[in-house]
Amino acid sequence: METCKLKRTNYCGRFCEDEIGQEVVAMGWVSKQRNLGNLIFIDLRDRTGIIQLAFDDQTAQEIFDLASECRAEFVLAAKGVIRERSNKNPEIKTGSIEIFVSDLKILARSCVPPFEISDKDNAHIDLRLKYRYLDLRRSEMQKTIWLRHKIVKAARDYFDENEFIEIETPMLVKSTPEGARDYLVPSRIHKGKFYALPQSPQLYKQLLMLAGYDRYFQVARCFRDEDLRADRQPEFTQIDLEMSFVDQEDVIKINEGFIKTIFKKILNIDLKTPFLKISYDQAMNRFGSDKPDIRFKLELVDLTKGLQSTNFKVFSSAAKTGSIRAINFQGGAQLVSRKEIDKLTEFVKTYKAKGLAYTKILPDSRSSSYEKFLTQDEISFIDKSVDAQIGDLILIVADSKNSVVFDSLGALRSKLASQYNLYNQEEFAFLWVTDFPLLEYSDEQKRYVAKHHPFTAVLDSDMEKLQETPWECRSKAYDLVLNGCEIGGGSIRINNRKLQERMFQALGLGEKEASEKFGFLLEAFKYGAPPHGGMAYGLDRLVMLMLQKDSIRDVIAFPKVQSAGELMTRCPSEVEKKQLDELKIEFIED
Ligand code: AMO
Ligand code: AMP
Repeated sequence: METCKLKRTNYCGRFCEDEIGQEVVAMGWVSKQRNLGNLIFIDLRDRTGIIQLAFDDQTAQEIFDLASECRAEFVLAAKGVIRERSNKNPEIKTGSIEIFVSDLKILARSCVPPFEISDKDNAHIDLRLKYRYLDLRRSEMQKTIWLRHKIVKAARDYFDENEFIEIETPMLVKSTPEGARDYLVPSRIHKGKFYALPQSPQLYKQLLMLAGYDRYFQVARCFRDEDLRADRQPEFTQIDLEMSFVDQEDVIKINEGFIKTIFKKILNIDLKTPFLKISYDQAMNRFGSDKPDIRFKLELVDLTKGLQSTNFKVFSSAAKTGSIRAINFQGGAQLVSRKEIDKLTEFVKTYKAKGLAYTKILPDSRSSSYEKFLTQDEISFIDKSVDAQIGDLILIVADSKNSVVFDSLGALRSKLASQYNLYNQEEFAFLWVTDFPLLEYSDEQKRYVAKHHPFTAVLDSDMEKLQETPWECRSKAYDLVLNGCEIGGGSIRINNRKLQERMFQALGLGEKEASEKFGFLLEAFKYGAPPHGGMAYGLDRLVMLMLQKDSIRDVIAFPKVQSAGELMTRCPSEVEKKQLDELKIEFIED
């Protein structure tokens, strides 16, 4: 094919009426070709939009013939004069003009694509991901990826204006499995030794505070070998930051400024700050979740005290070590059928609840699964506690484990809200959750692990518990929650060697192990560590919520699928034996 001498004069979507009469050159992909015999129209597309190319009986025969060959996804260069369109299309920006083509080059031909490049989104997600480069041509994807860029740019500008310095930290790091599973990278030079890909830049950013950089940020890639969900990818991006000589309020303030700024710049939305703030304990008690969606109420009510000595065993036995809690779905009695309650019961069972007790309060009757087992006083106690009115549906979970009650009712709350449209889809409801427990018990590891991470400081008021009962300590950790999704989290850090050692002890890390894994940090604390703290946003989650997408996959150019693989390049893949030999790695069949 001859080389094209034409030079593009503008993007397709940017030609305008002011250029009528001017000669221009457009380049792009054929979105649609319509051949009406003596007339041909081609919609030419690039990342800015579409311009119509027109060919008629005034067009030179060879150009007309070339235009009639064009099919979807061919790449063209077209020279011609901008003219007013006879048949205007108000739906698109350039709908009042077209290019009357005098010269046309086919720069590349295309096979029939495996799916139509349109925003109708009708192709199966696996096919879209296999041909992601085609999927990315859709204008919806192009807009998303462009807005993601704008959000990152706004983040860089904001942190720069606030004297944060962007500093890159290594991608090949020491494996210190204290959170999710690490991705390991074998070393060729150090046989039998491994790097890990960073789960976050946590330790490096703390060391940068020690090094006196005062305010750091980074758009950082992070890697975690964990099960995928709609809001989780094995590699993802954080907007990560750290600040010296600050307390929790300082970190919160700078971050509220950040969120306010990007919402204004990108979405032209004025958010009200400060955001609401509640403690972890309040979040659990009121919403059954540490990342509650506060766009709707359906708050949990604790019934344990008033029902602990009931004859109804389901309730009284749960009350001994756990709790009995209710949700009052106001107006739910008419909306939720018996069959639907059965489905909700199955739903809470997936969160390990053993059942779901209910009462429907209808205008002249009540139907209930539990009232026959209770005294009138106990029934009245429940009604009063949940402020029951005619039309309400009371739903109760009792369990000997508090965590089961919280998990199941927390999830039920969200399910009811989305199933019965109980919130405004357009609303952005931010919430800080603070004072997280320092530790949590890991059933898998049969020991306490750090709830946030092992470098998080203890709340001053809980300091005396650190030695004897560390599991009762709360920490200076905070999360930022948006519409029920944790978009960011951070903490004020330990900056004292003794305290850091005590924290490692609380996590069951012996002196030797602590020194092997984190000796460099303990050593660094000897040389003047300033008080410091920070946080990190899940950029993908933030973009997903800002653009109201259902999955973070929709805001990542080349995402992984559920099995952590990538369908386009087919990774992970096997490697050559020679590569393994160099690493002295042998593959053992299961
Ligand atoms: P944390 O582990 O809470 O904190 O991570 C911070 C934020 O990153 C996002 N995130 C994820 N996004 C997509 N896929 C994942 N697999 C994934 N995992 C986490 C979440 C989360 O809130 N170093 C600390 C921060 C600090 O203490 O400053 C950290 O990484 O939105
Ligand atoms: P049962 O005595 O098991 O038939 O339970 C009576 C009612 O209590 C039924 O409606 C059950 O769904 C409900 N129920 C059973 N277990 C629980 C539980 N753990 N929490 C709440 N309700 C329960």
